[in-house]
Amino acid sequence: MPNEDFQQSYRNTIGLFASGVTVIVAAKDGEVRGMTASAVTSLSLDPTLLLFCPAKDARISSYCEVGSSFTVNILDAHQEGIANHFANDDTEPEHEFVAWDEAGDAPRIAGSLASIGCKTHAIHNGGDHWIVVGEVVALHREEEPGEPLLFHGGGYRRLATD
Ligand SMILES: Cc1cc2nc3c(=O)[nH]c(=O)nc-3n(C[C@H](O)[C@H](O)[C@H](O)COP(=O)(O)O)c2cc1C
Repeated sequence: MPNEDFQQSYRNTIGLFASGVTVIVAAKDGEVRGMTASAVTSLSLDPTLLLFCPAKDARISSYCEVGSSFTVNILDAHQEGIANHFANDDTEPEHEFVAWDEAGDAPRIAGSLASIGCKTHAIHNGGDHWIVVGEVVALHREEEPGEPLLFHGGGYRRLATD
């Protein structure tokens, strides 16, 4: 088992890989749970698949089972408060869930750059995380998408404007 220094060093190193920020919203038995996630990857075009990786002890993991619905909401730069909220801070930013029948019973988050509706296709073991593979069943893009929220080196970032 790697020691804590090595794990911290790994976090600092992989944290140099810049990413976008999403909130995954999953639904089960009429209940909804969101989690901020950057471990999100496009996987396949035919069939159309993507994956995200929740910690096994994250509450959203118990909402994920084959056939259940989730949405991937790609956050806009103005949604940093929403990212913090779904990463479990104490704030309660204004956010609106929009019911989205095409995607099953997991709603999308209004104002996101885009939302991708998925049906859970498979769940694989990934150490202390799960690898949740979703089949893409619905797409929503803002008509005039703004700028993305980014994460790099342990903090939120924006695209440079020059
Ligand atoms: C920018 C950012 C990206 C994150 N990405 C992930 C991720 O991909 N997978 C994960 O399990 N947690 C990720 N987290 C941490 C979770 O959002 C956080 O631990 C959340 O509280 C877990 O849900 P829980 O409160 O139910 O345990 C990320 C947090 C931030 C701020």
